[in-house]
Amino acid sequence: MKIYFELNGEQQYVDIEPGESLLSLLRRLGMKSVKQGCNTGDCGACTVLVDGRAVRSCITFAAKVRGRRVTTLEGLGSPGDLHPLQEAFLEAGAVQCGFCTPGMILTAYELLSKNDNPTPEEVRAAISGNLCRCTGYRKIVDAILLAAKWKREGRWR
Ligand code: FES
Ligand code: FES
Repeated sequence: MKIYFELNGEQQYVDIEPGESLLSLLRRLGMKSVKQGCNTGDCGACTVLVDGRAVRSCITFAAKVRGRRVTTLEGLGSPGDLHPLQEAFLEAGAVQCGFCTPGMILTAYELLSKNDNPTPEEVRAAISGNLCRCTGYRKIVDAILLAAKWKREGRWR
């Protein structure tokens, strides 16, 4: 079956397999930021935005995004043109292996799109479904609070 959807601002018209996950489709389309961790909806490594809402692509059928707008980390920024959220993660030292980072950033993006002045508790609650094995969560929370401050200061595009 073929579906249309928007991926990082570009229209796609692609074949999907019966029962294929959105994670599988995005990896086939070269979106290497989308990570497979648990593949059961528990770790958050595969998080992407669908119409601005963070979803776990491993437990979302590819067919569900027909006609929708999907954003992966590749759509947020690029190595030469980082999004302020990505810069904040670097600045706060919140990245070690980076495996959890794309999902963390997209989850944070959804949070900050609704609330650009969250408390540390609200940040912790928002990322509670995104697991990190490396940094502990303090630096990640610091990074998201820093990105929120930059957003309030008008430094986001
Ligand atoms: S790989 Fe999707 S939630 Fe873990
Ligand atoms: S930076 Fe390694 S899992 Fe989070």
